[in-house]
Order: sequence, then structure tokens, then C-alpha cells
Amino acid sequence: MCGIVGAVAERNITAILLEGLKRLEYRGYDSAGVAVFTNNGTLERLRRNGKVAELEQALAGEPLVGRLGIAHTRWATHGAPCERNAHPHFSGSDLAVVHNGIIENHEALRERLKGLGYVFTSDTDTEVIAHLLDHKLKEQSDLAAALKSTVKELHGAYGLAVISAKQPDRLVAARSGSPLVIGLGLGENFLASDQLALRQVTDRFMYLEEGDIAEIRRDSVHIWDVNGQTVERETVQYRDGAEAADKGEYRHYMLKEIHEQPAVVQRTLENRLGHDHVLVQAFGPQAAELFAKVRNVQIVACGTSYHAGMVARYWLESLAGIPCQVEVASEFRYRKVVVQPDTLFVTISQSGETADTLAALRNAKELGFLGSLAICNVGISSLVRESDLTLLTQAGREIGVASTKAFTTQLVGLLLLTLSLGQVRGTLEAGVEAQLVEELRRLPTRLGEALAMDTTIEKVAELFADKHHTLFLGRGAQFPVAMEGALKLKEISYIHAEAYPAGELKHGPLALVDNDMPVVTVAPNNELLEKLKSNLQEVRARGGELVVFADEQANMSDGEGTHVINMPHIHDVLAPILYTIPLQLLSYYVAVLKGTDVDQPRNLAKSVTVE
Ligand code: G6P
Repeated sequence: MCGIVGAVAERNITAILLEGLKRLEYRGYDSAGVAVFTNNGTLERLRRNGKVAELEQALAGEPLVGRLGIAHTRWATHGAPCERNAHPHFSGSDLAVVHNGIIENHEALRERLKGLGYVFTSDTDTEVIAHLLDHKLKEQSDLAAALKSTVKELHGAYGLAVISAKQPDRLVAARSGSPLVIGLGLGENFLASDQLALRQVTDRFMYLEEGDIAEIRRDSVHIWDVNGQTVERETVQYRDGAEAADKGEYRHYMLKEIHEQPAVVQRTLENRLGHDHVLVQAFGPQAAELFAKVRNVQIVACGTSYHAGMVARYWLESLAGIPCQVEVASEFRYRKVVVQPDTLFVTISQSGETADTLAALRNAKELGFLGSLAICNVGISSLVRESDLTLLTQAGREIGVASTKAFTTQLVGLLLLTLSLGQVRGTLEAGVEAQLVEELRRLPTRLGEALAMDTTIEKVAELFADKHHTLFLGRGAQFPVAMEGALKLKEISYIHAEAYPAGELKHGPLALVDNDMPVVTVAPNNELLEKLKSNLQEVRARGGELVVFADEQANMSDGEGTHVINMPHIHDVLAPILYTIPLQLLSYYVAVLKGTDVDQPRNLAKSVTVE
């Protein structure tokens, strides 16, 4: 989704801005632009529809050289993706603005500003900010003061960076609902929507909080909080190079990230397992006390993280005996919710910045939940900062827009939560916990075995390359796994894929089945296997081609129109984690055969910071 980079320095900052944009590319965007206060004393901008590489090429032909600048990657919300709508947006020739988020009252503001004589050149909500700020500057010449008065009139979410040719020694910024971080250099300072954009220039960061306004000069940073009071924000230093991203030997980040799963699952388990039990304090020092009171769990998340929550529901109810509801955040946040007494509110998020999940957490605070827990992959995220308890997944940086290793580490985190709640509340037999802890220790090895089936799955992918629709079936905790498999396939191969609980087949989707609609299913060896086998017969009887990922002990074999891929045997509780792997690989290879942009699929964003 949209990315912001800004810099104020003694050196030419254009290359720094471009590198920052490249580092944010993985988040998904459709156009890019840069505005620089040039050494000629003018504010200039260059924008391109498409990739940052196109902007870079344009800049090579028309270099912008200056010491103050802002840059942006845009993911279209208001107005089509095109150069005219790309940021930065100008008011006149002296003021440039980049914006992440959505301004909900943009129509009313636009009418008012038109009445004041402003002429709009884009369809964006952002352009109203530029003109409103320009209008405010007529009454209040200081840029930060004018920005403070501007944001008071904005409804919605924003991360803003502004430069003015009239005050070329500073960059001003405002945060409300969309993250911003200041990167601190020596005699130079930077701004970005994500610290990853600035890791090439600094390792010291200051995170803006909700409502903050910042004035960033070469040698100073001034921050005002939501009440207009001067505040100090903590400086955080990063020393490790762990976030450096490259594809290594892999053709795509997604494939690399799929193959990282044994290692990151191992890391997510580290220091969290005792000899025969889960270490509850992994969720924080107050976790045991809070968990002892939990009688219900409400999980809220989006996309892939929501599917992880759906798997957890099966675990929480069957292992810990705790009722659990799971809902997508965009629904939960706008619904009148009845909260059962002693309900733990759990959010799941790779990024910790997903707008709907964050808003749901904020609403939940007013609703009388017992407490909140975030299962998240980014320790410095808003979600983590605003939750009572946290379990960090240790997936490392995930670049592929389609989430893979974040999902399996979330599942591990959720199983640790289930076992912890069962342990603290005495609803889980110690013997069962000990056995599952043992199985968790073996999980990285099992995942490695599943990954070894890579070439077999690559072959199976050929069946899908010319298809337009696919059905994924699963039963029990494998139903959300089927949903995640369908989501992966549609995200990166653009093949329409739908998931159904296998038992629902006869209630509609069977009407679609013919020899042009392959059906994928996951079949661990559990008490639902025989029922699943009958469902598969129903598909075969209608000429549907079957791809079945089946437990090696399930006694299923290839037949006409049936392709069985044997999976290593695994304890049924952990099966959802293992069976996710072949479905990820299947989507990956189908997408490669179709020649799509695997790591940055069209129209999608890695981190959805607007609703
Ligand atoms: C976007 C991403 C998905 C992700 C979802 C939720 O749609 O493309 O991969 O699952 O957001 O993101 P989160 O960071 O909250 O897990």
C-alpha cells in the first residue's frame, strides 16, 4: 500500500528517496512520484504511473538535485492509477504533499476550496490537503502551525509529509491512523511510513504516535502531541542486519519465504516450550493471571491472518474447551457486538498496521473485553503497542504480498495460546499438552519433508494453468486451510478459487463441477477421512478432476482423474500447519506457469493501511 519517504540533508537526497521507495515496493502500489526543492531554488516534481523503476528512468533523463524532498508510492483509492493522480500533490508551485490514508470529508473540503478559487488537477482526496494547507498558510505562515490547523479539519486517516519552497529548511509531518517514523542521521534527518525504507541511511528511529505533528530539520526534530504540547519520543536503535532482504537462490521472494518455514517455525517456538509444557510467560508477565480468567475468546483479523484465526477456533474449542468466535475486522468494527463476560480479544496480523484490525482493537477497548492480545510479526507496530499482551511471531520480514511464512508462524502462535489457556485453566490434560509440545518440536522437520515435495507439486500445477475456476475442499480444521489455499491461488495466479467445507458440496458447488473445474482437497488421516472420501466420489462421478493431498497412511491412491500426493504422517492437531505448505507451493507454481507478478500481484497490497 502507499509508501512515504522524505529527507532533509546537506547532500543530494534524490537517490535516498528512490532507494526508500524501492524498499517499500513490496507493499504494493501502482504509481510513484518525487518532489524536490532543487538547488535552483524551485520545487520540482516527477511522477510516473507504474513501477519505481520507471520513475528512476525518468529521473535519469531529467535529474532533480536538491537537499529537501518527499516521495511516494501510491495505491489508488480515490481516482484511477495514473500520473495525474500520483503523489506528490502541489498547491501552486511552492507546496508539495504526500499522503497515506483516506480523507473521508474530501468532497465537502473540495467544494469549499473550489469556492475559494483553488483549481484541482487530480481526482484524489490528497489534493484537498495541499490546497487547505495553502489556504491556512495565508493566515499562519509557519508550516508546522498551518499543518496543525489543517489536520483539525480532516476526517479520516492520514500519514502526511509536506515541504514548502518558502521554508526549505524543514519537512513537516502529521500522523493519525497511518504510521510514520523519523530516521535520525548526523546532520540530516529522514521520514518514512516504514523504517525499512530508511535502513540504508540510519539505524536510529523515532516513531510518531497518533495525533503527532513533527517538524524535521537537518539538525533538529520537534514533535507536538495531539494536544499541541511539545513531546519527546523515544529513540530506538537497530543494530542487526536481519532485515536486509534479497531473494538468495530463489526466483521469487514468495518461494524463498515458503522454504524458510521450517526455520521460522523453529524460531517462533524458541524459548516458549518447557520440557513438557508451553511457557505461558511467553505471552507477557501478566499473561498467566489474565489467562486464568478467560472464559471466551474473540479473534479478529483480515485476509490470511483471519484464516489463521479460523483454524485456532477448532483448537481452542476442542483442546482448551473455550468458546471462540472469529470475525473479519472490517465487519467486527462496524457491528454492534455483544461481549460475553471474561472474553479475551485476540488480534492476528503480520504487519500490525492493518487499518481495520487496528480500528477493531481500538473499538474493543470500549466494549468491556477482559484484555487484548496481539499475535503479530512486527514488534514495533501499532497493534503491538496498543495491546495488553503480545506474542511475536518470528517469521522475519515477509516481502511477498501473498502471505506464507507469516501464516504458519501465526498458527504456531495460536497453538501455543490454546495450550497455554488449557494449561492455566486446567481444561487440558497434562499428558495431551506434553504430547503436543513433543509434536511441535518435531514440526520443523515435518515441514521440511513437505517442502521436499516441491518438484512433485510443480508437476501437478500444470493441471491448473489453463483453468479459470477451482474448488478447494476441507473438513474440520482443514476447512480454513482450504480457504487459505484458495486465497493463495486467486491472489497470485488470478484463477477464481473458492473454498467449501466438503460437507457443503451437495448444497450448491457440486453444480459447478465438470472436467474444467479441478477440485483440490486436503485429507489428513482423521475421523473425517471416510466422509471426505465420499465427497470426493461425488466429484469424480461428475467428471471433476481431483488433486488430493493425503496422509501417507490414508490409503488413497491415484486413479483416473484423481491425483493423490502423499504427505508425511502428522498428529491431527498439527495437520493444518503441514497441509498449508503444498497448497502454497501449488499456487506458486501455477502463478509461475501463468507468468504473473508473483511477489507483487496486481491490485493487492502487502499492508492494507486504509479501510
Ligand atoms: C493484505 C495482505 C495479506 C494479509 C492481509 C492482512 O491483504 O495482502 O497477505 O493477510 O492484508 O494483513 P496483516 O498484516 O494484518 O496480517
